[in-house]
Amino acid sequence: MRLDQFLSARTMYSRKKLRQLIGKGAVTVDGQTVTRADLSVHPEKNSVTLNGTAISGDRYLYVLLHKPKGYVTSLHEPGQKTVMDLIPLELCRKDLCPVGRLDKDSTGMLLLTDDGQLAHQIMAVRRHTAKFYRVTLARPWEDTYREQIAAGITLADGIRCQPAQAEKVPGTDRDALICLREGKYHQVRRMFAAMGNHVEDLERVAMGGLKLPADLPVGKCRTLCQKDVQKLVKEEIEFAELLQNCREVSS
Ligand code: URA
Repeated sequence: MRLDQFLSARTMYSRKKLRQLIGKGAVTVDGQTVTRADLSVHPEKNSVTLNGTAISGDRYLYVLLHKPKGYVTSLHEPGQKTVMDLIPLELCRKDLCPVGRLDKDSTGMLLLTDDGQLAHQIMAVRRHTAKFYRVTLARPWEDTYREQIAAGITLADGIRCQPAQAEKVPGTDRDALICLREGKYHQVRRMFAAMGNHVEDLERVAMGGLKLPADLPVGKCRTLCQKDVQKLVKEEIEFAELLQNCREVSS
């Protein structure tokens, strides 16, 4: 496959722009700067970088973003900053989309991919991947929340949530960890509102068997390897282990 073809299928740059970038020496193949757009590359055998970013030869791309507050989970929203604004052009493939959503004021782990089948698998109602949220409440945690959440909360509009797991983060008064296997609109916020509290901060700290990496700064993203993708989809972190992590972060 031609180098410009390879890059055009894996980035948002036009073929014309790519030819300019290649001509300027912005591309390396196997560590060597190249300047010919028609150079032949093999997606699985050669390693290609553009502006210093490795361009995966894999068919699908999986990007993990540490979402900050103030960005909407959408491809395009007039007048708003979207999570796509945080993805470097070198990683922005044409069909890349967020899997599920985090509210504008929520932070934490957001997966983006162009692998529609995997996105569907994560969101499928019958086998929804577990999502773990750390929340800070406006008022102290009450022990009755645990049982209410385990029994299934009824939201203010009468919609009933599936039974879920929640626990106070030890050593705190107002922080809790909650695990959901479904994704209703503003679900965590509305669950605590239904119990008379208010969520001040909400961070997604893990999905399936994958934690938000401690060394991924807010607003930054990184690509996931197949092993991490499989962890996310096929494994599940122990609630108690994550609760312990939350405790360590707080102290
Ligand atoms: N539940 C919410 O209320 N907000 C989120 O962003 C995610 C889950």
